[in-house]
Amino acid sequence: MKVLLTGGTGYIGSHTAVELINTGKDIAIVDSLINSNEDVVERIKQITGKEPKFYKTDILDKEAIDKIFAENEIDAVIHFAGLKAVGESVEKPLEYYYNNIMGTLTLLDVMRKHNCKKIVFSSSATVYGDPGVPRLVETMGRRTPTNPYGATKAMIEKILEDLYISDNSWKITILRYFNPIGAHESGLLGDNPNGIPNNLMPYIQKVAIGELEKLHVFGDDYETKDGTGVRDYIHVVDLAKGHILALEKLLSADGGVEKYNLGTGCGYSVLELVKTFEKVNNIKIPYVIDERRPGDIAACYADASKAEAELGWKATKTLEDMCRDSWRYIQMNK
Ligand code: NAD
Ligand code: WQD
Repeated sequence: MKVLLTGGTGYIGSHTAVELINTGKDIAIVDSLINSNEDVVERIKQITGKEPKFYKTDILDKEAIDKIFAENEIDAVIHFAGLKAVGESVEKPLEYYYNNIMGTLTLLDVMRKHNCKKIVFSSSATVYGDPGVPRLVETMGRRTPTNPYGATKAMIEKILEDLYISDNSWKITILRYFNPIGAHESGLLGDNPNGIPNNLMPYIQKVAIGELEKLHVFGDDYETKDGTGVRDYIHVVDLAKGHILALEKLLSADGGVEKYNLGTGCGYSVLELVKTFEKVNNIKIPYVIDERRPGDIAACYADASKAEAELGWKATKTLEDMCRDSWRYIQMNK
């Protein structure tokens, strides 16, 4: 039983690699390193005692991917590889559509050739758009996302659905992540984007280590508990564990396309996250209130009951754990 992780040296992929190895799975990682570093492979080994097979390869390189499938008996793929920065996707739509869509099409074509028809795909709560209610459930339809990044996620979901219609032997699981934050408790794996971060927790981390002066809170006049945006923050290790259960369910399934929200089911505001970070880490995060960020919705959180009922998965880590682990990681990896 071998599982291939595309994008496996990235933030979520590396945590999932650790959980897979810890549950005895044989894995291989393919990553172009466009947004990660090869030293992650060594770090996975430090944590688990086992070094995963690593291919520095772009999933757009069909010949190279074909060779990886020829060399390894791959039973299933967890497909993380993709570009993920919302703002950058608005500036570089062609690069985002090309990398995410063509990359996925190339991968799926090679998988089909090698009769490997089991895939778990990293989707996002962004595919729900703004349905007008904060609690998002899988039975809601997709709404056109407001940026090219989100559009690639919605398109890939549709591609996977069409693929299954054409061939019912595919087993496909779509995981819709909410807002992953936190880091591995060893401090060896985490999220540390280059440049000025778009996402809230990486920005807070950079303020905490003094690399950025203050946090800009995007709007305090939303109809939420304190006026700031509300999101469902989920610890990356809980998220990684969701992949293990999703994979087990997929392997025993007859075929089909299933979608699961992976979130805690709780919404926290920007200021609640800031205050919790300050309290558990005993550090001040200076902030100012700014204009709303275009494209943001007021509030969203997961209805995570399907994942609990069908996968037996439930997030267990608290907002305090997320803040503590994020702080430890950034201090160890400035
Ligand atoms: P990440 O950037 O840390 O990891 C993605 C990895 O994919 C990187 O290591 C990158 O080098 C690699 N990659 C990108 N294009 C590639 C290509 N063409 N060939 C080979 N490797 C390639 O991002 P992440 O946060 O770990 O996200 C993993 C997946 O989950 C992505 O698909 C992302 O869109 C999705 N997702 C992330 C979030 C989030 O907030 N982090 C939320 C929802 C969904
Ligand atoms: C969270 C909250 C902001 C930064 C994005 C993508 C989504 C998924 C996760 C990949 C919001 C506020 C933020 C800052 C702030 N990614 N904020 N100051 O927008 O919910 O989701 O990342 O798939 O697709 O859209 O996450 O972390 O950017 O924002 O006040 O400097 O923090 O307004 O309320 P978001 P985020």
